[in-house]
Amino acid sequence: RVTRVFVGTLIHAPCLGEVIISQSILGIDPQGKILFIRPYNQLEAVKGEFEFKDTSIVQLSPSQFLIPGFIDTHIHAPQYPNTGLGLDKPLLEWLSAYTFPLEARFSDPNYARGVYNDVIRDTLRHGTTTACYFTSVHVEAAKVMCDLIHKWGQRGLVGKTCMDCNSPPSLSQTLETNIQGSKQLIAHISQLGSSLLSPVLTPRFALTCSEECMRALGVLAREGHYHIQTHISENKREVERAHELYPTADSYTHVYQECGLLTDKTILAHAIYLTDQELGICKEERVGIAHCPVSNFALKSGVFDSRRILERDIKLGLGTDVSGGYTVSMLEVMRQTLIASTCISFQTQDPAYRPLDYREAFHLATLGGARVLGLEDKVGSFEEGKEFDALLVDVNSLRSQIRADPGLSVSEKFQKFFFNGDDRNILEVFVSGRRVETQ
Ligand code: GUN
Ligand code: FE
Repeated sequence: RVTRVFVGTLIHAPCLGEVIISQSILGIDPQGKILFIRPYNQLEAVKGEFEFKDTSIVQLSPSQFLIPGFIDTHIHAPQYPNTGLGLDKPLLEWLSAYTFPLEARFSDPNYARGVYNDVIRDTLRHGTTTACYFTSVHVEAAKVMCDLIHKWGQRGLVGKTCMDCNSPPSLSQTLETNIQGSKQLIAHISQLGSSLLSPVLTPRFALTCSEECMRALGVLAREGHYHIQTHISENKREVERAHELYPTADSYTHVYQECGLLTDKTILAHAIYLTDQELGICKEERVGIAHCPVSNFALKSGVFDSRRILERDIKLGLGTDVSGGYTVSMLEVMRQTLIASTCISFQTQDPAYRPLDYREAFHLATLGGARVLGLEDKVGSFEEGKEFDALLVDVNSLRSQIRADPGLSVSEKFQKFFFNGDDRNILEVFVSGRRVETQ
């Protein structure tokens, strides 16, 4: 049975470097999966083939198109009230002065409820259909986050942040509390019984987790085949500290590898200063990288070379890294991905170096992110059998600032949205076929 049909323009990027545009009919089944994608003029034929009963048929206007929902592979939910604050400080000072004091407030689940509700609503409104979240160290607040994501209908991975050393007393927990808390969150998510939600084990980074804590999380992850997320090589001072704390390790990456934290379900955020040898390990262990350019520029962390990762065929997605990043907008993240890549192209002596273009950034924000999160069979592009996680975009929506000339080609309208668009152009947001509220 077909519950909903869209007739109009589909735009997606199933292959790196290509944006595919089609005039199509897309049908959705009661489970929220894409039942069929057919050429524009075959509506009558399709009506004979599938059961149309209470089916809503949506005809898109010429200024409208559907794209896959954005996938934010790295975002800190409790840091949302801090967006835009303290960005004159480098990473480690910013963490101490702004981030840790704010995260300490999440010992209060009621405070958490307000902030988490805002962050889910606002990411959805900006087109993020899937997000991979850090919460704070507090398991009760993390449970609230899961309940809210479930209620809103976003697709999400949620981790209780683990910290057991070199941290303020308000955030430092014993190894035991960190592990028990992580297990409690896993159990809570399992009880919710949502196909959209999964847990992710979350050692904050090597500077605030003991080796024992990281090892224990690695064991837990392997036992249950859970995702793992952490930070790596974001800032030069941080890399130095990692070497000071682990003087016998060959590299920062080796520290995580030896603790069993590198698996094909691991998401490493930033990864700016990894050496070729470290990238070799990433490739071998099949980890994914979350590139967070807005944060990397705002905190003056460094300029990430996306091309170097893509050339090595390492999984790559994009993240807002709120509130190192000052916006939940994945459109802004895509644009700054291009700026970072262009900066690298200015610096390099290699005349053959190709900075990323908008097609590649769009791929990274959709299917690239899906691969990083192991969701490539479910979301990230439009394919029969995949779940319908999508955005209905209108380049000339009423409140839009774009004013795209109706005479532009579809490709040009998409470029207008990519460079000039914002949440006002995202009219509707669908996760697993269900339209979610964004108000
Ligand atoms: N490294 C460790 N914790 C954090 C964090 O909260 N944000 C960023 N950007 N980097 C980190
Ligand atoms: Fe981060």
